[in-house]
Amino acid sequence: MFISCFLTLFCHADNVITQGQSIKDGQTLISDGQNFVLGFFSPENSSSRYVGIWYDNGIPDLYSVIWVANRERPISDKSGVLRIGDDGNLMVFDGKNDAIWSSNASITLKNTTAELESTGNLILFRSEDKETVYWQSFNDPTDTYLAGMRLAVNAEMGETHPFTSWKSANDPSPGNYSMGVDPRASPQILIWEGKERRWRSGYWDGRIFSGIANMTGNYLYGFALSDKVNGSGNFTYTPPNNKDKLRFRITWDGYEEQSRWVEDNGDKMWSVIQYQPANVCEHYNKCGAFGICSAVDSPICRCMKGFVPRYADQWSRGNWSGGCIRTTQLNCQSKLSEENDDGDGFYKLHFMKLPDFADLVTLNNSDEACEERCLQNCSCTAYAVITGIGCMIWKGDLVDAQHFPKGGNRMHIRLANSDLLGNEVIIIAVAGVLGLGVLFILLLCWLKTKLKGNILSFPSSWRCGHDIPILEQSRSRESSPRFSGSVDLSAEGDQASSLPELPIFNFNCLQIATSYFSEENKLGEGGFGTVYKGKLQGEQEIAVKRLSRRSGQGLDEFKTEIILISKLQHRNLVRLLGCCIQGEEKMLIYEYMPNKSLDYFLFDTTKQALLDWRKRFTIIEGIARGLLYLHRDSRLRIIHRDLKASNILLDKDMNPKISDFGMARIFGGNQHEANTNRVVGT
Ligand SMILES: *[C@@H]1O[C@H](CO)[C@@H](O)[C@H](O)[C@H]1NC(C)=O
Ligand SMILES: *[C@@H]1O[C@H](CO)[C@@H](O)[C@H](O)[C@H]1NC(C)=O
Ligand SMILES: *[C@@H]1O[C@H](CO)[C@@H](O)[C@H](O)[C@H]1NC(C)=O
Ligand SMILES: *[C@@H]1O[C@H](CO)[C@@H](O)[C@H](O)[C@H]1NC(C)=O
Ligand SMILES: *[C@@H]1O[C@H](CO)[C@@H](O)[C@H](O)[C@H]1NC(C)=O
Repeated sequence: MFISCFLTLFCHADNVITQGQSIKDGQTLISDGQNFVLGFFSPENSSSRYVGIWYDNGIPDLYSVIWVANRERPISDKSGVLRIGDDGNLMVFDGKNDAIWSSNASITLKNTTAELESTGNLILFRSEDKETVYWQSFNDPTDTYLAGMRLAVNAEMGETHPFTSWKSANDPSPGNYSMGVDPRASPQILIWEGKERRWRSGYWDGRIFSGIANMTGNYLYGFALSDKVNGSGNFTYTPPNNKDKLRFRITWDGYEEQSRWVEDNGDKMWSVIQYQPANVCEHYNKCGAFGICSAVDSPICRCMKGFVPRYADQWSRGNWSGGCIRTTQLNCQSKLSEENDDGDGFYKLHFMKLPDFADLVTLNNSDEACEERCLQNCSCTAYAVITGIGCMIWKGDLVDAQHFPKGGNRMHIRLANSDLLGNEVIIIAVAGVLGLGVLFILLLCWLKTKLKGNILSFPSSWRCGHDIPILEQSRSRESSPRFSGSVDLSAEGDQASSLPELPIFNFNCLQIATSYFSEENKLGEGGFGTVYKGKLQGEQEIAVKRLSRRSGQGLDEFKTEIILISKLQHRNLVRLLGCCIQGEEKMLIYEYMPNKSLDYFLFDTTKQALLDWRKRFTIIEGIARGLLYLHRDSRLRIIHRDLKASNILLDKDMNPKISDFGMARIFGGNQHEANTNRVVGT
């Protein structure tokens, strides 16, 4: 104790400076928790002295510097001093006692104190009252964003560029690049080179930045935008593990970089987790207006449907900056031609990084209303309805659009109807031929089922209504990435995958079975709907999952579940008996599990006792068997992605059954690895 006290005094290892105290070159402030140090440093091969804050990793290196005070005016020797000036501001003085930097706050009561907080924030506050903060380094950052910093987002303020790069790896003075937020439509993170945009993250959708192709789990956990009050809010970041030393910075050569300090097996270094722009398509507007960049295609640029290169020769030489122009004017723009008054239509593009400069329209977020709004203004060129954002419309050029192999968003571009028709003629012809083939196959299947008897059929008393085989036309998007060729048709029509026959239940009948979805019959509530117990005429008990109508969400999960579970047969997977689609109502009907779910036992102090070791072992084994089937033995390779106690149902003999496949993802038969674009489940 004696020695550590002694050392503390010796190095001035305090975390505050008060009026009258000073930090001379060579002395430091050390934050509580000892993560951060404030002091003087020099870049390599230079005698210039800067006051800065750095991560204390035991290895002093420039890379660890997170904030610099006098970045524009270095001190040429070691005579500098940091102290609180007469006006109460934190100031840096050189050997001649000239102030070369000041925190520049307007301070009324001059008795102030500065403290280096454990977050790395240097704050200047009124000595008698720590709540009165006059200035803080988190509001006056250099090139680094740290957990705990609030990045203001304010529609009235417009773009903000709070972070400025260093001039070079060895020169903290302000460089050519800056990083900040553009609040337009929905906030985006941007990098600028001077005034030119260099990279953007895509729109914040409440969960992720929609334009970052491979947001890994690490990266996206922890971002949040506070609720906006009077149009302004704050972005914050909380690292998944609060012991991690993490930072985001704009590097001197113009990249957004996220890195984490790693120490294992004697390795001590900053490891880069994210780097943007990550590929050539990430460079802003690589393919010009109305161009689409796709990093996995060659050439990377192509024009949107209905557009051709503006300068064909430059374009073919790989100079895409000229972009593309419309082949046929929009009808609303060419009022002259009488016979062409059949209006404009829209064309869907999938897996897109949405173009820049959208306008947000407050509407009920239906495709129809948004489309209507776009048609109302002749300068509207595209619209998109995005969960978490709403109806977005674009006026004028569509710039910086990208096509991802998977993920991304769907948007609709406006074209003259003649351009849409031109394509449809071909599609109709092709579809006609395909259609005949499909019909023929269906006929065969139907005949086959008729002959064999319907294997999947249930006692007629269960059915309570009509039993019509349904065909699911579109397949889970994630499961069918298309890497090349036409993006335009993907996920639509051209790759219909048929489902085994699934009984359709009558809505009225389910209403009666569940006593009109009464509260007493409620079994539980999931992410996408409520589950009710029901009893059909034949006294057969069922569980009915009713998708919540209010959220547009859930439709994908509904489809995934139908597609997956109807194809799976295993004693440790819950069995789907049928579904019901009537207007807005979408329901899944399962076998009823009298013993509810595993969490009901595990987390209840009295019921816990009912599970002895033998039962627990049987349950564990059953879950493992179910998983083995999903991962390896079934025809599809499936990752459940939401496995938790509440999704393990128990039948009357306490056999476990895995349920809730809404979040699941299908893998290719021999695919072992994939990236995901969103956080899901558990
Ligand atoms: C402080 O304010 C003065 C005058 O307004 C200005 O010249 C100076 O650059 C400012 N210093 C800082 C560090 O902002
Ligand atoms: C400044 O405030 C501190 C803490 O309240 C007090 O101890 C000190 O005497 C004050 N100094 C002056 C010059 O008023
Ligand atoms: C910054 O811009 C200047 C002038 O355009 C240029 O000479 C310099 O190379 C640029 N620096 C970096 C790091 O790009
Ligand atoms: C690329 O094309 C644009 C016009 O399309 C032209 O202005 C520019 O000079 C070209 N750049 C190069 C490097 O050829
Ligand atoms: C259409 O949009 C343009 C550009 O934003 C605007 O100037 C114009 O007033 C709009 N027209 C109508 C009819 O809303």
